[in-house]
Amino acid sequence: MYELHSVTQIYEHRGNVVTALDNCNLEIPDNDFISIVGPSGSGKTTLLSILSGMMAPLSGSVFLGGLPLYELPVDERTKLRGEKIGFVFQSFNLVKWLSVCENVQISLMFSGEPAGEQRARALELLDRVGLSSRADHLPTELTQGQQHLVALARTLSNDPRVILVDQPTRNLDPRTRKQVMNSLSQFHEDGRTIVIATHDADTAAIAQRTILMVDGVYQEVAVKSAA
Ligand SMILES: Nc1ncnc2c1ncn2[C@@H]1O[C@H](COP(=O)(O)OP(=O)(O)O)[C@@H](O)[C@H]1O
Ligand SMILES: [Mg+2]
Repeated sequence: MYELHSVTQIYEHRGNVVTALDNCNLEIPDNDFISIVGPSGSGKTTLLSILSGMMAPLSGSVFLGGLPLYELPVDERTKLRGEKIGFVFQSFNLVKWLSVCENVQISLMFSGEPAGEQRARALELLDRVGLSSRADHLPTELTQGQQHLVALARTLSNDPRVILVDQPTRNLDPRTRKQVMNSLSQFHEDGRTIVIATHDADTAAIAQRTILMVDGVYQEVAVKSAA
């Protein structure tokens, strides 16, 4: 699914040079489930952003399904990203003035499907994260955790092969955390490839493999033996 070869990312901020990813090689097979753990500032978000197709690394190459992601023309990369990758940012990026259902419908709006069918599909996706009863609420009427679930449901709307989630269970109450973890496991069982960055050991443990990032280097991989 993904292959990273010698991927390096360096930021420069007010004269400070930070190596966020240092010569990273990584293979992520189809239907893998990886959690990236590590201290704050170790490069987790940088790695996810590079996988998302939204941030070219300074050097190295990233292949998605055999295609060199950052060597493709921009329009092809955008298309590939739209078709294959779902990314949930830490900030969710829900549109405040649209209902929960409309937020999930956003990427269906250009599909040419009748509005009624779009809504039905959005409701189905909300149902998968247990939130169909909140479809007509505004995001601000939901808890942080529920907003996160809505963002997860929204990533499913284009049926991506890959789902990338930055800190899926941060600041969540135990019940919502469980719901988020269940949803992620379900997406994985559906055959998708899942990559999450997390500080939470329980969350990391649902993945098949765990990568530890320290100062831009991924140091070890714990692999869960088949149950
Ligand atoms: N846009 C940026 N400009 C400058 N430095 C950045 C930027 N984004 C991240 N960094 C730095 O790169 C390092 C890795 O950051 P990040 O990938 O966000 O780590 P994590 O997600 O593990 O906290 C940190 O030292 C961070 O301060
Ligand atoms: Mg981060």
